[in-house]
Amino acid sequence: MGKSSRDWTQIYEIYGMDEWQTLTFLLLHAIVFFLLSVLLLIYFSPICSFFDSLTLFSSLPPRSARFAAGFIVSVPALFASCLFFVAGNFFYSSIPLRWEMSQRMVKVVNDWSNVKTALDVGCGRGILLNAIAKQLKKEGSSGRVVGLDQKKTVTTSTLRTAGIEGVQEYVTCREGDVRQLPFGDNYFDVVVSAVFLHTVGKEFGRRTAAAAAERVRVLGEVVRVLKPGGVGVVWDLVHVPEYVRRLQELRMEEITVSERVTAFMMSSHIVSFRKPIQQPVAPGEVSLDCKSAHYVNIC
Ligand SMILES: C[S@@+](CC[C@H](N)C(=O)[O-])C[C@H]1O[C@@H](n2cnc3c(N)ncnc32)[C@H](O)[C@@H]1O
Repeated sequence: MGKSSRDWTQIYEIYGMDEWQTLTFLLLHAIVFFLLSVLLLIYFSPICSFFDSLTLFSSLPPRSARFAAGFIVSVPALFASCLFFVAGNFFYSSIPLRWEMSQRMVKVVNDWSNVKTALDVGCGRGILLNAIAKQLKKEGSSGRVVGLDQKKTVTTSTLRTAGIEGVQEYVTCREGDVRQLPFGDNYFDVVVSAVFLHTVGKEFGRRTAAAAAERVRVLGEVVRVLKPGGVGVVWDLVHVPEYVRRLQELRMEEITVSERVTAFMMSSHIVSFRKPIQQPVAPGEVSLDCKSAHYVNIC
């Protein structure tokens, strides 16, 4: 992956972090396990003596008690290391990687100069939304990008971040539910979404058929609002193969899947596609033609 040309502290200053509760949870647990391992290390000799005094160890080879004490001390140390690693990856995925992937997603669209309307579904605080707005500004385009999020507080802070990035005139925010996109058919030139689709239907349980049905239904909504010839770009965790299957069923063209990128300790991919200009299909229509997909190391 290319190197990020923007310092993560700047990105953090502007966008903050949505999932700071998870990060705090991980760090607190890591610190607790770390302190526990330090405490056990301080009391290593008494622990050894305690094991030595147990009858179980009298029948075992010499130094077994010491080995057992060492094991007891190393388990919380191992837990602490794992939790620090997960917290680090979580932070990296939330800030620098999210920004980097936004830049990559923007580059998927070959020509932004012709884009008049773009949509970011589940836009959050707008890292991707503003990346698109910056691209439109760079092209001197008259295009606009709409950020859709279900929370008013989020759309308010999205407009604030667009202001900080100096692209407010390119950004509109709309409060709404992605399950029923409040836009007409064939409206947008580009529809994007980052680390969002996998959250749809989670109330049914992530691995349930009902949640999967909900996710692909939302993908159908994305296709519905795309103009014929329009481009969809979705970066998401885990479920990308499911999206590819649905896009094939919907007869999307130029379906491309990026290499695997680890985000939030999970596999993620960017999938992009084009809605056919000829014979636009209704989202419910199913085809068995699977030839249009192009995979790059998808797992
Ligand atoms: C994990 S954040 C992703 C934010 C953004 N795409 C990014 O990469 O920074 C998911 C966002 O989707 C919004 N959201 C969740 N369910 C939604 C729904 N049904 N309709 C619209 N937005 C939704 C949440 O409010 C949240 O801001």
